[in-house]
Amino acid sequence: AMLLSLSLAACGGGGGGGGEQAEEIVVASDIAYPPFEYDEGGEPAGFDIDLMREVGERAGFTPQFQNVTFDGIIGGLQSGNYDAAISAMTITEERQQDVDFSDPYFNADQSLMVRSDSDIRSTDDLAESNVGVQIGTTGADQATALRDEGGVAEVTTFDTVEDAFAALENESVDAVINDFPVSADREQSSGGSLEIVQTIPTGEQYGIAFPKDSELVGRVNEALQEIKDDGTYAEIYERHIGV
Ligand code: ARG
Repeated sequence: AMLLSLSLAACGGGGGGGGEQAEEIVVASDIAYPPFEYDEGGEPAGFDIDLMREVGERAGFTPQFQNVTFDGIIGGLQSGNYDAAISAMTITEERQQDVDFSDPYFNADQSLMVRSDSDIRSTDDLAESNVGVQIGTTGADQATALRDEGGVAEVTTFDTVEDAFAALENESVDAVINDFPVSADREQSSGGSLEIVQTIPTGEQYGIAFPKDSELVGRVNEALQEIKDDGTYAEIYERHIGV
């Protein structure tokens, strides 16, 4: 797909850019979360990847993406191994104790996905069920909370959501709780074998994460605002999420 606005990017203000040599920064992401981040012929691709490249154009840095386990991102930011992370990461109060976030850039709910031939229709039907989740995610928090109330029999954690989906397909778990847009993408590519039966309206917002007090946060927020205002955001959205 074409990046129609690329030529505009060089003129961007935002405190960096403008002819200076762009600094390289290390950006962590769990690149197994389509349509936000995925591997395309050995290169990172997806909504978050395109957004972060656009942000970099305007804020004066070049992101070097590093593929990492989602569960290790916060710790890696805290220890200074990464300068930033973009990984469909929900802004939560708990995470805000450890890292700083940009302004929100995407709204998402959770979802309950099952095999299409399942009798499970909602989270009320999970008392006997084994629910698969990606470790360290808000979906894992949802499943664990349900288990603690007795509404879920067992929670099985996986390093990647792809592993959780595979376990659902091969019947080692009964359901997967995960971000709606990502499960919707998987439903589409499942050829009818998997189905989202419920949206869980958590009202989450994704943010780009940084080590505490990073000077990048302000620059990135200015760039994000520009990207939203000039139509680039809508373009990236259409390219990866649809209309
Ligand atoms: N939004 C959820 C969270 O913040 C899931 C994000 C998982 N991202 C990923 N790239 N695997 O916990």
